[in-house]
Amino acid sequence: MKTNRRQFLKTTGLAGLGITAVPAAAHASSGVTAKAPFKQAQPQRFNMHGYAAPKLPIVRIGLIGIGDRGGAALQRLIKIEGVQITALADVKPEAVSRGVAIVKARAHSPATYSGGAEDWKKLCDRSDVDLVYICTPWLLHTTQAVYAMERGKHVAPELPVALTIEDCWKLVETSEKTRRHCIVLGNQCFNSFELLTLNMARQGFFGKLVHGDGAYSRNMLPIKFRKEKLWFFERDIDRIGALYNIHGIGPIAQKMEINCGDRMEYMSSVTGDDFTMGEKVKEMAAQDPFWQPYVGRRFNGNMTTCIVRTARGRTMMFQYDHFSARPATKVHLISGTKALAMMEPPPSRFYTNEKDRWLTDQEYQALVAQYTPEISKRVGAMAEKVGGGTEYYHGGMDTVMDWRMIDCLRNGLPVEQNVYDAASWSALIELTSWSSSHRAQSVDVPDFTGGAWKTNRPLMDLALTTGGTTRFV
Ligand SMILES: NC(=O)c1ccc[n+]([C@@H]2O[C@H](COP(=O)([O-])OP(=O)(O)OC[C@H]3O[C@@H](n4cnc5c(N)ncnc54)[C@H](O)[C@@H]3O)[C@@H](O)[C@H]2O)c1
Repeated sequence: MKTNRRQFLKTTGLAGLGITAVPAAAHASSGVTAKAPFKQAQPQRFNMHGYAAPKLPIVRIGLIGIGDRGGAALQRLIKIEGVQITALADVKPEAVSRGVAIVKARAHSPATYSGGAEDWKKLCDRSDVDLVYICTPWLLHTTQAVYAMERGKHVAPELPVALTIEDCWKLVETSEKTRRHCIVLGNQCFNSFELLTLNMARQGFFGKLVHGDGAYSRNMLPIKFRKEKLWFFERDIDRIGALYNIHGIGPIAQKMEINCGDRMEYMSSVTGDDFTMGEKVKEMAAQDPFWQPYVGRRFNGNMTTCIVRTARGRTMMFQYDHFSARPATKVHLISGTKALAMMEPPPSRFYTNEKDRWLTDQEYQALVAQYTPEISKRVGAMAEKVGGGTEYYHGGMDTVMDWRMIDCLRNGLPVEQNVYDAASWSALIELTSWSSSHRAQSVDVPDFTGGAWKTNRPLMDLALTTGGTTRFV
């Protein structure tokens, strides 16, 4: 069975990429004197926040990794004006064939690469690719993004973009050096409730922002034991901490203007024990010897809780739990001096000091009518239709995200989620891992903007004052 795993790592190119790079962590380590070994800041070479690359009326896309997420991305992208899919790559030939079948329906005829673990490089080397859209397993994202930017491509990597602080810096350095966008695919930021509440926050509805809670917690057990998706199963082996954060962090970070008015200053994190996976693996191995090599391995704890303090004195709390009994829950709570918004559990709701109660459904609907931003009005309903029916359309938010990315590239506008977001949101993986391994010792969050957060202006043009010209086709 060990051969299966070795073979899997070899064919996907994950071998040698540090699949166990974060050392097995002692949950109850007493390393209270340890010093966090992370680079905190460096002078900025060029500010990519607000940077507008030259217009690309046609955005020629090479997509790597046509699994669940990549296949769904292709279905969305081919329905956006000005997109041309010029190349596809996946180690599995059958995945590439599936991709070709999807895009052929809209008359795209991409070059294809498959078979070798590094064949994706040939896609990045092509002169007819402007944007490399990366949907491979998480360990490959930084390597692929850096390689593609070095070859003059903008990149859009799936979540998370990096696993280590060192890789976060590599992304920042490469994006600044090459002036290529690294667009983090933070789809939750484009969900209608998050866009609505971002607009409300900007217009002062909540008063001064004080605190935010975020999480994407879900019992993943029913989809965890898939032999064809071992990277997903192995993600939580020999690692602890909040390993999949960005759905929770992104929308709060945008409201708190992280990297453009405020910054995450320091954080602490606690991870409990594993109460599920160790036992479940034994159960699975009793039925199928394939799982035997995993018996006795160290799994991530069920629950990680992370708290962050910002430079402007606000706080955030993030949680990660993929193994305990709970329905899929996307926590988004934003608390201010005047009002509070809470998305889950449903129905989403608002509380105000003025009424001193949760608002009624009628009052809620009145706020939706008043504060729904132009971006949701213009593309929200269409995005739902375009993406509807595919497994990964997520109520339309993925399509709004892709649409705005393409719209910004076509109109030569700054992208809404850039390399500093990619780095600071992804950095919480290693930071939570480190803090949880050191009895919740606090650790500074690197300033990836090199101080530019003090003068950067917030992105996310909710009113579509620029661009907004791209159609669905
Ligand atoms: N934003 C979201 O809502 C969301 C949802 C699900 C997954 N994700 C992220 O998307 C990414 C992909 O997830 P998925 O569920 O589609 O995984 P998947 O396993 O279904 O697909 C990954 C694909 O990458 C291919 N691949 C592996 N190694 C490769 C290599 N060296 N070169 C080229 N192709 C290679 C695989 O063959 C596979 O087809 C992950 O990072 C995951 O965290 C994001």
